[in-house]
Amino acid sequence: MAIQVTWLSHSGFQITIGEYKILIDPFLTDNPLATVTPEQMEADFIILSHGHGDHVGDSAAIANRTGATVIANFEIGSWLQQKHGVQNVHTLNTGGGVKLPFGRVELTLAYHSSSLPDGSYGGMPNGILILTNEGKTLYHAGDTSVFLDMQLIGERGLDLAMLPIGDYFTMGPEMSLKAIELLKPKVVIPMHYNTFDPIAQDAASWAQRVQNETDARPVVLDPGGTFQM
Ligand code: NI
Ligand code: MN
Repeated sequence: MAIQVTWLSHSGFQITIGEYKILIDPFLTDNPLATVTPEQMEADFIILSHGHGDHVGDSAAIANRTGATVIANFEIGSWLQQKHGVQNVHTLNTGGGVKLPFGRVELTLAYHSSSLPDGSYGGMPNGILILTNEGKTLYHAGDTSVFLDMQLIGERGLDLAMLPIGDYFTMGPEMSLKAIELLKPKVVIPMHYNTFDPIAQDAASWAQRVQNETDARPVVLDPGGTFQM
């Protein structure tokens, strides 16, 4: 079964696995690189890495319109239920997972911070693992620095990693190479860059270095672009 991975820009992805549409960190409103509006998004599931506005983004509006189930940590999930009336929520925490119709979703470690747009406590920031029923493993790092425990995530056998390369708020291009060394993904897609001035990066030169210095295949997408795996 083909998996389509569409980059919505920033850390936002739409991943289609069979009949299921999954959104990760759908930040579209006030995102200068977004090519679609929240009203155009269809979703069965929305997975969130942490509470910052550029990740929670439009998730409440999309969930309330589509009835999508949100998967996030306890603090973010509870906030979406109580403050935004989101109906269907799985409130996981780091290391935990949930079985869904397309596979299993787990929240991993990430080194960052996490507060919600109204200042509420957002709990721990997370990365996201998707382990599909067909045996594919996808990792979205969220906002994070590199950390040595990425080795443990890499031991799951990653078909795809989505890694931030923007620097300033997360790891930059240089340390993303170290992250790739620890994670050993087959394919790596860069994210969290070029949305705003402080995170401007040259993705082509990053890709050249990934090609030359790691065993992973870099795939640089334009906003709205799709990778099929
Ligand atoms: Ni953040
Ligand atoms: Mn961010």
